[in-house]
Amino acid sequence: MTDDVLFFCQEFEALAGRRDEPGRYYQNRAYRNASVSFRNSTRHNCQKAAALLGTDGCPLHSITARAELVTKVGLNPFLFPAHLLPGCDLLSDSGTTTMTVEQWAQLLLGDEAYGSNEGYFELNEQFGVTFGEVWQQRFDAPLQTVFIFHQGRAAEHALFFNLARSLKVEGLKPLRQRLAGKTGDVYARILAEIERMERRVYASGQKWEEPVYLIPSNGHFDTTEANIAASNIIPLNLNCVEHRNNDEKFPFRGNINLVELGELLNTIPEHIPLVYLTITNNTGGGQPVAMANIRTVRRLTAEKRVPFFLDACRFAENAWFIQQREPGYQGREIKEIVREIFSEIDGFHISLKKDGLVNIGGALLIRADGLFVQRYPGLLEQLTDYQILTEGHPTYGGLAGRDLKAIAEGLRTVVNPEYLASRIGQVQRFAERLSASGVPIIKPAGGHAVYIDIDRFFAGISNEDTDYKGVAFVALLLIAGHRLCELGVYAFELEGRKPPRNNFVRAAIPRLTYEAQDLFATAEAIRLIYEHRERIPAVEVLSGKDLALRHFKSRFKFKQQKV
Ligand SMILES: Cc1ncc(COP(=O)(O)O)c(C=O)c1O
Repeated sequence: MTDDVLFFCQEFEALAGRRDEPGRYYQNRAYRNASVSFRNSTRHNCQKAAALLGTDGCPLHSITARAELVTKVGLNPFLFPAHLLPGCDLLSDSGTTTMTVEQWAQLLLGDEAYGSNEGYFELNEQFGVTFGEVWQQRFDAPLQTVFIFHQGRAAEHALFFNLARSLKVEGLKPLRQRLAGKTGDVYARILAEIERMERRVYASGQKWEEPVYLIPSNGHFDTTEANIAASNIIPLNLNCVEHRNNDEKFPFRGNINLVELGELLNTIPEHIPLVYLTITNNTGGGQPVAMANIRTVRRLTAEKRVPFFLDACRFAENAWFIQQREPGYQGREIKEIVREIFSEIDGFHISLKKDGLVNIGGALLIRADGLFVQRYPGLLEQLTDYQILTEGHPTYGGLAGRDLKAIAEGLRTVVNPEYLASRIGQVQRFAERLSASGVPIIKPAGGHAVYIDIDRFFAGISNEDTDYKGVAFVALLLIAGHRLCELGVYAFELEGRKPPRNNFVRAAIPRLTYEAQDLFATAEAIRLIYEHRERIPAVEVLSGKDLALRHFKSRFKFKQQKV
């Protein structure tokens, strides 16, 4: 090679090593588009859309028609027709993935036999490759340990419903009596959770039974929390101190609070049927959990023989953060880190709609030689029966055979370091863009979403919790053409709880779906609203305020601002 060519080689290398700056990119995405979907497709008929919805114009193209439609759906983003959004749909990263061509090819190869189809064998093998051999169903084993479900919450429901039926209540005092006289923040929070559950049960007209059990976590997801509570168990979140103090420098703000967990395991172990970690911690800002934290939870739970589970939706993203941020893991492969995480636990459930890189799918995997099976020996049989009643045979769990193949392929792709760097890098760039406009976000940014901190967003501006301005902010963004989600005062019923607290509006980024231009356009709409935040009106709740999971169902209207 000539000196000149060498010169250019060195320059290209330096260019590729540069960090992206607003408006400039130095690296390509790790993938290219293999198929695209036009928002205004040839099948879209503006006149028909307007006539159908009774709006004055087509909501895809006219802002006033969109504002009309937002009013009609009661300002609730879950009820807004997705195909009429001209901007980014950041309501969820769940099931919104663009699949790879390899996955589409797998769909064509699907085997639709009833039970034990080819896809199941492939997926089971892939579970062993991804998570470690102990997680694979042994075909000569008398009991099922791998349960497929159509999505994550179905797996959660199966687990908690059947667990609650296996728990003995006799001989144990109700939690309120058990904690009488105990002082400290964690006990006060347990009592508050019991009262919250009691209020809900009374509001729904059901019979109230004092709960005896609680399940601690670093942060239960809303459906996990609701599934646990529906089984008359108290879901309890133990955010780590750095999370509560909003410590931006701390790299693992998704950790569980080990001091509080240790205290509960020492004082009331017989009231704790399971301990959970959600990786990454979605309700806690999409923040990762450190391997050291996982390992310590294993030690603490093993000492008391309490089973330890993961809600593992974003396991690969969490492993990426461990590789990037935790001392001792920099040279380690993502695949290895994933297996190390899963070697520490007794079971997990997973919504494969996230790091399974598919549009539908979930699973519950239980370790045959783990503490869970030892403590609840009848549960595997019970789960198998339950699954046959609700989802079909455990080998297909409500999914088509072709879906199982697409999941197996997705699990192969998701641990690719180039995929993960590009995925998480995109989320981080979007976060930096918002931050550069002064919008207060949770820092460092999480793996799958950017969380706008609503308490800081409205700092210094009149804002009562019952104004639900997070809901109003989301509704205004819908009018602008972008869909985000309130996960704060309204979704988690935080009225009156003092900051710091998880009061967020979340922008969840679908995998492999949008380009920087799309996200930057959303960032501009957010910036504009933020700059005029004193003009964001309060909302009135028209219906659904006392329902469980109320953010999915409620309707609101904007209040007229007093001048
Ligand atoms: C952490 C976590 N757990 C559980 C679920 C529920 O999964 P699914 O939506 O597949 O029911 C989600 C979904 O968003 C999640 O983020």
